Amino acid sequence: MTATTQTFIDLGYIAASILFILGIKMLGKQERARMGNLMSALGMLIAITAAMFECCLDFTWVITGLIIGSLIGLIAARTVKMTAMPQMVALLNGFGGIASLLVGWENYHSQPDSNLLVRVAVLLAVLIGGVAFSGSLVAYGKLAGKISGRPILFKLQALINILILAAILICSLYWLYEPRGIFSYLVFLFIIALSLSLGVFSVTPIGGADMPVVIALLNSYSGLAASAAGFILLNNVLIVAGSLVGASGLILTGIMCKAMNRSLGNVLFSGFAKQSGKAVSTSVQGEPKPISAEDAYYVLEAAASVIIVPGYGMAVAQAQHAVRELGEILENNGAEVRYAIHPVAGRMPGHMNVLLAEANVLYEQLAEMDDVNPIMDTVDVCIVIGANDVVNPAAREIESSPIYGMPVIDVDKAKTVIVLKRSMAAGFAGVDNPLFVKENTRMLFGDAKATVQQLVTEFKES
Ligand code: TAP
Repeated sequence: MTATTQTFIDLGYIAASILFILGIKMLGKQERARMGNLMSALGMLIAITAAMFECCLDFTWVITGLIIGSLIGLIAARTVKMTAMPQMVALLNGFGGIASLLVGWENYHSQPDSNLLVRVAVLLAVLIGGVAFSGSLVAYGKLAGKISGRPILFKLQALINILILAAILICSLYWLYEPRGIFSYLVFLFIIALSLSLGVFSVTPIGGADMPVVIALLNSYSGLAASAAGFILLNNVLIVAGSLVGASGLILTGIMCKAMNRSLGNVLFSGFAKQSGKAVSTSVQGEPKPISAEDAYYVLEAAASVIIVPGYGMAVAQAQHAVRELGEILENNGAEVRYAIHPVAGRMPGHMNVLLAEANVLYEQLAEMDDVNPIMDTVDVCIVIGANDVVNPAAREIESSPIYGMPVIDVDKAKTVIVLKRSMAAGFAGVDNPLFVKENTRMLFGDAKATVQQLVTEFKES
């Protein structure tokens, strides 16, 4: 390779790294997120092109893989429903993990006597990649409903994890010291098996409302594993991209934990606490008070201030356009209308923001939980549209509740609350919600989209 080609490759890597950093920065603001996504994608295209020239590979394999992968990605992006995005993200995290594991394995297979630094990188790629892969598959199974979404607990679970960790430590030290020979190869394969088991055993006890934290953490693991793969391949842009994913995944994990008022340790190990008998029933006493769309119209018609709180049910019903229409009608009727968004409403970070943006709800109308909670007692009507866990007052009031301590939108403090959902069923966390039987709550049962459309019709016909 000539010096000029190498210079172009290096410049390509620098440009790609800058585009990744700018892209991630732009994802922080809703208005610029789409552009940020495009910039990161351009960065990835430049990085892949430069890497192909640097590695002087047989392009046939790379291009064949690229075409097959792009086709699968295109079909998935077009067909996967918005509500299925979390499990899709879990799968993608898993693919990142297994790719790094395979890079590590191939490197050891082809160069068994590489230096200690490379061996450490191989070990990290295999360990972190293995945990990210199998953990993500379990997370996928839970989110897609293939296995129970609740924490799966069994006897001696904590002990098994400790034994796996101890075995990983001992085998890793041995392999780092002596990587040559058939016995060391078997030890290496055993380390892979242990890392895969650790991923499974560490994610199965987590479930319910804690899943977003796990997804963010697994995302971070897949980035760290990719960074380790970058050290193996001595590829700077892979190190940078992996570190960015690792760091942003960790930051997101922190934000998710804060949104649920939990420490990471508590999320990762509270399943074990439940095993020791700390989980307590939280059944709710009282009768719900149903309301018809017509009566709900009279309440809304008289309201001077309305806060709309969307949740996962709005996504399921695809009610966002009808909700925007209702919001506009209420405004034209003289009410001040805002949309309050909980950080973990829906099934992925920013889920509600994306849906409301798609329906052209103005950014200025969106408010965060911390902005609306202090003024909630002055609000005339809160319309809860397919939200449950994120408006559950048990998080404040019932110490024995599994979601106790999680910050929620205090809709129950508004003068009147109208809850739109199909039944009295629990939300993602599987916890009963005392909001539904509060004195100032009215239940408007039915599919969210159909119900909002009925309300719109009531206004139009009045
Ligand atoms: P949930 O607590 O899951 O409640 C959604 C409610 O929507 C359900 O109670 C359901 O009641 C109702 N619903 C479903 N389909 C509906 C339809 N077609 N029409 C009307 N209502 C419908 O949602 P949430 O309040 O948004 O809370 C999110 C939960 O998901 C939290 O526990 C969070 O931790 C978890 N989670 C979040 C994420 C992220 S990052 N956002 C990722 C994974 C998990 P009915 O069946 O009675 O209608």
